[in-house]
Amino acid sequence: MGINMNDGFIEEVKAHNDIVEIISKYVELKKTGNNYKGLCPFHSEKTPSFIVSDDKQYFHCFGCGEAGDVIHFIMKMENLDFVDAVTQLGERVGIYPEKNSVSKQEKEEISRKNTIYEINRAAALFYYKNLCKKNNDGLSYLYKRKLNNKTVKTFGLGYAEDKWEALNSYLLEQGYDQSIIYAAGLVSERKKKNGYVDKFRNRIIFPIINTRGKVIGFGGRTIENNMPKYLNSPETPVFNKGENLFGLNFAKKEVGSKKQIIVVEGYMDVIALYQSGIKNVVASLGTALTKYQATLLKRYSEEVVIAYDGDTAGQLATLRGLDILREVGCQVKVLRLSEGKDPDEFIVENGKQAFLDEINHALPLVDYKILLAKNANDLTTVEGKINFVKSITEVLQQLKSPVERDAYIKKIAMDTQISIEAIKSEIYGNTRNNPQNLEKTMIPHTNKYRSKWDRHTNKYSIKPVKPADKLGYLEAERSLLKTMITDKTIFDKVKATMLPDDFIDETHKKIAKIMYRLHEQNNLIDMETIINALDIEEVVILHQINDKIIPMENIEKALIDYINTIQKHKLTSMKVKMEEELRKLEKIENKSQEQIVRIRELCINYDKLQKELKKL
Ligand code: UTP
Ligand code: MN
Repeated sequence: MGINMNDGFIEEVKAHNDIVEIISKYVELKKTGNNYKGLCPFHSEKTPSFIVSDDKQYFHCFGCGEAGDVIHFIMKMENLDFVDAVTQLGERVGIYPEKNSVSKQEKEEISRKNTIYEINRAAALFYYKNLCKKNNDGLSYLYKRKLNNKTVKTFGLGYAEDKWEALNSYLLEQGYDQSIIYAAGLVSERKKKNGYVDKFRNRIIFPIINTRGKVIGFGGRTIENNMPKYLNSPETPVFNKGENLFGLNFAKKEVGSKKQIIVVEGYMDVIALYQSGIKNVVASLGTALTKYQATLLKRYSEEVVIAYDGDTAGQLATLRGLDILREVGCQVKVLRLSEGKDPDEFIVENGKQAFLDEINHALPLVDYKILLAKNANDLTTVEGKINFVKSITEVLQQLKSPVERDAYIKKIAMDTQISIEAIKSEIYGNTRNNPQNLEKTMIPHTNKYRSKWDRHTNKYSIKPVKPADKLGYLEAERSLLKTMITDKTIFDKVKATMLPDDFIDETHKKIAKIMYRLHEQNNLIDMETIINALDIEEVVILHQINDKIIPMENIEKALIDYINTIQKHKLTSMKVKMEEELRKLEKIENKSQEQIVRIRELCINYDKLQKELKKL
């Protein structure tokens, strides 16, 4: 706001920050072919698959898929948002955005927000003073919950007395407009619209403070079992529940050398842990984590330990929240407290050390998901095993490192007595190297081509071989290339019918040419060499090809489908061209001898073409 970061400015910043130069500060780059290459800074790898193009001013990691321009690189590398990344790159080369004059409307918005922060602060103080009064119900409630005075003060807890208009009158007296008190979410309109009443009544007040120390909203817990148990501030110009985490103002300074933050569900959990000396805690306020919250956590921590109640932690919405954390790059671990206890109850009962022990035994997210899947299935039955393997397939596919994936597969195989090959075949949909697959291990063959198991699997996870006509020629070409990369015998088969020039798409043609050449030279197709010979956009396509999962059942039929699809596309475009030419020729009134011959030729070819198309 107030900073003029228009496209022109952004382009100028990019133009003055050479991507190769910038990335070289972080990554050792070597020139290979048209591009530069190095070890990817965004995932751990031993052989370089991180490519930077000087011409295109673009980077792409063949290993983890991260890609973008110099701004994107800095955002990722330095954990900055877009504006900060552009600003940093601009400052580096001495270009600054013009500070344009803030518009009147923007000024008003800022001033309104500032007033709301002020009102919130005044309200928090007001509530706190109520707790300091003699014999008030709020303080006795907090004592009952085992909180001490110091904790109450640290968190600025408060008490809203059982009165209808205590806070509202106080704030009006302080000179604030009714409309802005309402906008701050502290009062509700009376049903008859003839005035306002305090939103929080007879409740313990938990001020929510952002990382800049501003009071942005409140939570209020009933002390008499009224509904709802917790009442929260509504969305206001300064409060958005999905964008904040309770306790982050303290936790961000307490992440320690592990850079770890514990995420709990509730206000009381944060406070109880803090009081016991575990201060790197925040609460998600009873909702699944949002992308925004995840990014916020990532800004301050590397590892996030989830300590939810057992029942919430297994819920789908929660798991999605945890995936978001993983996606923004946090290491995620899940802690499982014994039956039905939340961290507050646990620590009050068992103390700090017991909780720290639990944290040390927290499971990595993948292990946690595997455990959930295990618990959900009866592994003593074949059906249970099949369901189990199916439900963890996606989990394992998300693992980017093949080494890690293999380690998990081995562990699962040991745990469940399902063969490694069976699990792999489910994950990769590939039986090529593993003739002994799940199907063979568990269910006897019934039908040579499409066993019950096959149909069953396809329905859930493996993408079936699509019938040719539904598959576009581009996809067909990519699938074909992928199978050729993976399997030498397939390569030989395809080579017998398709030449590189038979591929329609230019990039596919180029990739095929390199592959055929490599194959001829040393009978070996290695990715490295292909990548080195490609431009960066082409590498992106190669990446997409390599990412394809091709089921290897019925591969022979699939190959025919692919080739036919390509052929069909070619013939169809030829057909269209012929039709056009014919139409033109027919329009001519006095046709020359030559033209008449051409028409006859076209008709014969057209006929042939039609017949060939029918065969496909
Ligand atoms: P819980 O119901 O688990 O409460 O809700 P709690 O944190 O254990 O609270 P105590 O120990 O009974 O006091 C977890 C969190 O979900 C939100 C609150 O942020 C709460 O801390 N919540 C819960 C609400 O916003 N509204 C509700 O009505 C209930
Ligand atoms: Mn609780």
